[in-house]
Amino acid sequence: MARAFFIPPIPHMEVPVQTLPRVLCSSEAISSPATSLTTARANGVGLLGCGTVGSGVARRLLASHPGLIRGIAVRDPHKPRDVRWDDFSSDAFDVVDDPSVRVVVECIGGLGLARELILRAIARGKDVVTANKDLIATEGPWLAAFAARTGASLRYEAAVGGAIPIVRALGGSLAGEDVFEIGGVLNGTTNFVLDAMDGGAEYADALAEAQRLGFAEQDPRSDVDGHDAAHKLAILAGLAFRRPSVSPALARRGIGGISRDDVRAGAERGLRLKLVAVARKAGDVIEAGVTPAFVPEDHPFARPRGAENVVRVVGRGCGTLVFSGAGAGGDATASSVVADVLAALEARERGVQAHEGEDLVSAPLRAPVLVRFASGSVVTSDAMPLDALEAAAGGFGHVIQSLSKGRGEVQSMIPVWRDAA
Ligand code: HSE
Repeated sequence: MARAFFIPPIPHMEVPVQTLPRVLCSSEAISSPATSLTTARANGVGLLGCGTVGSGVARRLLASHPGLIRGIAVRDPHKPRDVRWDDFSSDAFDVVDDPSVRVVVECIGGLGLARELILRAIARGKDVVTANKDLIATEGPWLAAFAARTGASLRYEAAVGGAIPIVRALGGSLAGEDVFEIGGVLNGTTNFVLDAMDGGAEYADALAEAQRLGFAEQDPRSDVDGHDAAHKLAILAGLAFRRPSVSPALARRGIGGISRDDVRAGAERGLRLKLVAVARKAGDVIEAGVTPAFVPEDHPFARPRGAENVVRVVGRGCGTLVFSGAGAGGDATASSVVADVLAALEARERGVQAHEGEDLVSAPLRAPVLVRFASGSVVTSDAMPLDALEAAAGGFGHVIQSLSKGRGEVQSMIPVWRDAA
């Protein structure tokens, strides 16, 4: 059913939207980016947050475009940081309101302060660049519509796939494509953990290492429970199927219950365990979900190592396209943020457009399942929907029962990935 988007009234603005400067024409910017981007005063960048991603963005922009950043807001201005900046501000609203700031780069994350600041920037007609997948995946459709009303642009290449340019590809090069399937491995932390477990590491040690390397979210439950991948899948599905799409509607399982015995059971059959996130057309419905799944070793979804991601797009005209590379970490994510900042300043592209029409409603992903019993494992011949696996009884108890044949208690049930025919 269609969801009505509530677009808030534009709050009082000191700078009317229509007078906000658009001082740089694209031809000037493209001919000499490093100089023309930095000379116009009201053409600056305000950076909100200077953590793993924000500090990467700051270091890159300070080196490549000196003078472009006009303000950096942080929670604690006195904390030592690996960024050469003399005047950290503790008032992020000040940075947003600075008339010399035209592009607001939000690297705080979450749905609280970050959301408020983004709303304020959009209300003031400022271009917004963000890596905030939680926000885009839950409120992106109406935020894009709001931005369209105020003349702002909204860019979030960094929200999905780290350095992989998939958002821009879907919104640009593939804008006319009839997509059948989108998705793959969208969370670097869980891929790092599953890879490490494949190599013999314990789950907790592998996760601690992923946190130390800056791959994991502040609350790593978002990674391991599959929320982060679900957010990214919702964003990709919205772009691919050109319908408003939000993550709470997606079926989801995480990797919290995975053991090394599960990883081993797959390896014995030439399968690798991955956290797969896919949305695909199945007849009249979109089947979608996030789940640990066994993937054949030669399948594109088996390709990512460590914190890498892979995104596969299957479409009527484009056939099968596979994008892979660094999916998490400060440098990878900063690479996409900086690209969005430069695109915004050069007005090269319009930013991500709002999609209208009915919300994308999905049914749970279906796949055969590897059922691991106390002694031995079996793959079901039928595909089962993801939401039936939590409770083996959920309509499939009889299937499991008939497979058990004295093999003992069920230890785990994990889908085995099967491509659509
Ligand atoms: N925690 C995320 C991941 C960071 O591991 O993929 C990149 O979005």
